[in-house]
Amino acid sequence: MLTGFVPTMGALHEGHLSLIRQARTDNDLVIVSIFVNPTQFGAGEDLDKYPRPLERDLDLCEAQGADIVFTPQPQDIYPSGYQTYVDPGSLAEGLCGASRPGHFRGVATVVLKLLNITVPTRAYFGMKDYQQLRIIQRMVEDLDMPTQIVPMPTVREKDGLAMSSRNAYLSAEERVAAPVLIRALRHAAQIWAHGQRDVETLKKAALEVIATEPLVRVDYVQALDPVTLRPELGPGTGLLLAGAIFIGKTRLIDNVVVNGDGAELPSAPAQ
Ligand code: PAJ
Repeated sequence: MLTGFVPTMGALHEGHLSLIRQARTDNDLVIVSIFVNPTQFGAGEDLDKYPRPLERDLDLCEAQGADIVFTPQPQDIYPSGYQTYVDPGSLAEGLCGASRPGHFRGVATVVLKLLNITVPTRAYFGMKDYQQLRIIQRMVEDLDMPTQIVPMPTVREKDGLAMSSRNAYLSAEERVAAPVLIRALRHAAQIWAHGQRDVETLKKAALEVIATEPLVRVDYVQALDPVTLRPELGPGTGLLLAGAIFIGKTRLIDNVVVNGDGAELPSAPAQ
């Protein structure tokens, strides 16, 4: 029997639902997990205020055809005496790993545990969290885990803003400002499409677009090889343009992966 698994932190939106629907299409049994994982939040981050609309989430899972929704409590996953963590290595060093120390150690640990608990044939991850996807792909390969990782395209609002549970934190004015990140990344992608291969020039082009929006503070903008997440570009693997911004207290991330012609890839390139 084929089992599809979709790990989430809940506050489900169309991005999550697209993963559940794909899992439904591909597998006999569909398992969704909803767990706001404390070990991937840093001190002063939004662990306590992260939205937890459980009844609504359960209805949405049922409507997409999920068979099982796993909703553990923190003490189920991290009982007293818990002390074993996954160290994800250099893929976790840059981008969000630099801004959120320990974040990907928590992500890799909980994903490994959830995959061990559910033993799925396939597990579905969004390209929205591109660095997370690469770290999980690498972990599954490095640790000989039997699950196939399925990358899924980023689902966006009409104005381009990537769907995120954290968009709910934005005021009306901040919501209008938020799509500047994807506009900036796509602007840099256009310049790449015209043949520019200097990553510093591409980053600068994106930063100039973001600078037009006074409500936004940049955390990072990076132009990297989409497989290694390093600034040295491999031949023919395209380009990852990734950014993180603060709007007020809300931190939003987004990325595009483009091929040599500048076309956005719906899926992650093979490692
Ligand atoms: P969460 O942010 O809830 O996301 C769960 C899954 O949904 C991830 O694979 C994420 O990439 C995907 N996703 C989120 N927004 C998306 C969008 N707009 N389009 C497509 N996919 C989207 O990522 C996590 O939770 C956690 O780190 C987790 C993997 C569950 C471990 O705790």
